[in-house]
Amino acid sequence: LKVLVVASEALPLAKTGGLGDAVSGMARAMREAGLDVTLLLPAYRGTHRHLTDTRTLCELHHLPGGPASLVAGRLASFDLPVLLLRNDALYDRDGSPYIDARGEEHPDNGVRFAALAHAATRIAAGRTPWAVPHVVHANDWHAGLVPLLMRAAKVRRVKSVLTIHNLAFQGLYPMHDAARYGIPAEYCGLDGCEFWGRINFMKAGIRYADRVTTVSHTYAREILTPAFGHGLDGLLRERQAQLVGIPNGIDESIWNPAIDQHLPDVYSADDLRGKPSCKRALQESFGLIADPQATVLVSGSRLTPQKMADVAVRVLPDVLDAHGQLQVAILGCGDRAIEDEARALAARYPGRVAAHIGYDEQLAHLLHAGGDILLHGSRFEPFGLTPIYAMRYGTLPVCSRVGGMADTVRDPGEHADDLDLADATGLLFDGAEAAHLRHAIERALRLYARKDLWRAMQRSAMTADHGWSASAGRYIDLYRHLAPPLAAARS
Ligand code: ADP
Ligand code: GLC
Repeated sequence: LKVLVVASEALPLAKTGGLGDAVSGMARAMREAGLDVTLLLPAYRGTHRHLTDTRTLCELHHLPGGPASLVAGRLASFDLPVLLLRNDALYDRDGSPYIDARGEEHPDNGVRFAALAHAATRIAAGRTPWAVPHVVHANDWHAGLVPLLMRAAKVRRVKSVLTIHNLAFQGLYPMHDAARYGIPAEYCGLDGCEFWGRINFMKAGIRYADRVTTVSHTYAREILTPAFGHGLDGLLRERQAQLVGIPNGIDESIWNPAIDQHLPDVYSADDLRGKPSCKRALQESFGLIADPQATVLVSGSRLTPQKMADVAVRVLPDVLDAHGQLQVAILGCGDRAIEDEARALAARYPGRVAAHIGYDEQLAHLLHAGGDILLHGSRFEPFGLTPIYAMRYGTLPVCSRVGGMADTVRDPGEHADDLDLADATGLLFDGAEAAHLRHAIERALRLYARKDLWRAMQRSAMTADHGWSASAGRYIDLYRHLAPPLAAARS
């Protein structure tokens, strides 16, 4: 079974958040299960350096944004074939896949991701030398036009799947750009990709994909409601029979405290002796007082309202004033105003609060290893990889009861007995007000004070199975169900 996975991010080629982890983790797991998986990404600046055996496969004329080429290579660390869409005018830039060095969106993101979708469609249509896949698996709005363009190009034998990693980001562009993006007029109506007068890439994917998936069971239900649907809940309800939740997982070769090369010491559920050195290294590298008795609350995610970062910076002073042993380490970047508030908090509590504003993969590993408790509020959370990483590292998360976290974090309830608590893997809370968050942190601190119980919870969290293999199996079942005759004939 051949699958072409189309995305804007895949670790280590490009990553700005969980999408990069999820795409590569899923692809690796499917390859390990015997699927013939190819990744298709834009050739951002330097991306090709991660590949071996690169060669130009073909030129692609008449794509949005001008002529491009397909570069084929191998991602040796994942043992995966990769295709890069090369158009240096579009992709060879400073900054991240979406924003420039000044933090502004690239003004031509619509063209950049329309070109990616056209390239995928050409491969599906057999118009390149690359083998025609049975299924094209598009991820998030960046690849949202793929199912629409495959429909427009009458590519019937190849099936399409869209995975929604985050419905909050949809890719909205002026309708007068439709021709520039190569979207035929008959697909631009309300029953096509039109959304309040604009083109909506995510809507195009949801509307035309043979199957739509999202990254947790709870989020799959939540997005059918106006509160979580970001204006697309009506369409999602129409397509409910084709919508399924398939949870993300942990790539154990990257996130595993027993082999993690980013840490000063390794440890496991059975032998936690290496964790205190990680705490010390975390305190030292963040500029916190190197006190082994301190309780270190960590937060490592985008500093945005999705992650309730605005609420966290407001609540923390009260909690810090009430608990002299508490330290806070923040790693993140995002909204400028929240970044400034995090810096101000650090200035107000020198040695007790540290804020590293920026993106740093190595520090993220140290943060999960060296912390005691992970603070992870979210107003919505399609999956939430950060809390499952923290659990794997014995840093118990305090999370909102939304999306994937409602499925992956085991909270036995406020009135549970010790036996149930020992089985818990973290704490969940409802609501997005300061009082809700504060109550949840207080609850975690009370449990943390009961050392034996906390140790039992750490063991439960570290040994819970969040691996990819079950979910890879679900994707494979979905593909086989979609493409049975082809799969039987050619796999
Ligand atoms: P989201 O994709 O919504 O940002 P997830 O928790 O699913 O949330 O995934 C976030 C990923 O991004 C994790 O791998 C996390 O470690 C990483 N991450 C987030 N912020 C930073 C940062 N400032 N530095 C390094 N890694 C980060
Ligand atoms: C998104 C979501 C996050 C999810 C990630 C990977 O960025 O916000 O919850 O874990 O995608 O699917």
